[in-house]
Amino acid sequence: MKKHIAVVPGDGIGKEVTSVGKAVLEKIASKYGHTFTYEEALIGHVAIEATGDPLPHDSLEIMRNSDAVLFGAVGHPKYDNDPTAKVRPEQGLLKMRKELGLYANLRPIKLFDELLDASSIKPEILRGADILFFRELTGDVYFGKRERIDGGNTAYDTMIYSKYEVERIARKAFDSARTRSKRLMSVDKANVLESSRLWRETILEVAKDYPDVELEHQFVDAAAMLLIKDPRRFDVVVTGNLFGDILTDEASQIAGSMGMLASASIGDGTGVYEPIHGSAHDITGKGLANPMASVLSAALLLDISFGLKEESNDVINAVDAVLKAGYRTRDIANQNTPPEMILGTDDIGMKILERL
Ligand code: IPM
Ligand code: MG
Repeated sequence: MKKHIAVVPGDGIGKEVTSVGKAVLEKIASKYGHTFTYEEALIGHVAIEATGDPLPHDSLEIMRNSDAVLFGAVGHPKYDNDPTAKVRPEQGLLKMRKELGLYANLRPIKLFDELLDASSIKPEILRGADILFFRELTGDVYFGKRERIDGGNTAYDTMIYSKYEVERIARKAFDSARTRSKRLMSVDKANVLESSRLWRETILEVAKDYPDVELEHQFVDAAAMLLIKDPRRFDVVVTGNLFGDILTDEASQIAGSMGMLASASIGDGTGVYEPIHGSAHDITGKGLANPMASVLSAALLLDISFGLKEESNDVINAVDAVLKAGYRTRDIANQNTPPEMILGTDDIGMKILERL
């Protein structure tokens, strides 16, 4: 198979972890006789520094003309502490999602058995948890009208959804539920928000086409509570952009660390594959970052964009084998991990490549 991949490391640890993800793709290509070509593009703070624009036109074109995008992270502490900044790295990420029509963000919460004790939740509560979030990604308060009024002393953001936006993500989630345990949980705040009432109404309509899928509704506050009380109750979950952002960070603790969680953003065109973690400037350049989320994002890329299921499973199994062998990055180590088994970004990457 011949494929062209855009590699977009972005900011902070994005560069370190994406280089491991890319090395895994290169290894898969040579092992299975595929030809993957790569093209790098800038986004986020590094793009602002180079061009003044968090998502330069050239970067967008490179992504549009690729078969898939391997993405790192965006962000810089400089902007977090400067709420008045007009140009921000995150604008590049949001524009990319909108421009590429990436309305469905799949975030699988997969718990590797070896990491049962890396989580702060009790192993007997966690064992066997396996959740797939469908986070809507191009609507909601992320893209609604926002403004400062009253001389800057009042601000508002608009939580807004249209029926077609809810319907298309709902169909993706229902389709996926059909291939799993045939259970779908929809999360909203329909007891308060009008946009959530439209959400629920639309989900109920779509559900008529899926009589074989058992549908459950939860309010977001209850869902947040249940997620740590009884994670096994969840299977496929569909929710809006903001609730999905918050719940998936929470759910990452089921998998032990944000450093383990991959995501796929799909929709109208090229798919984007990225860790759910951010740019983590506190550990940037120290070789401490866990590259497994990027490696698992590469596995999702192989599966979803290229249909290479065997190759994808090979990558997941290699990560599993490295964990079984006892190797850890710092974020997933605990007091029982022997110091010599705690590896840096490139070293644990090498272990994964060796297994492949
Ligand atoms: C994520 C991130 C982004 C988001 C930030 C960096 C804008 O937290 O992908 O979950 O809020 O969507
Ligand atoms: Mg987030």
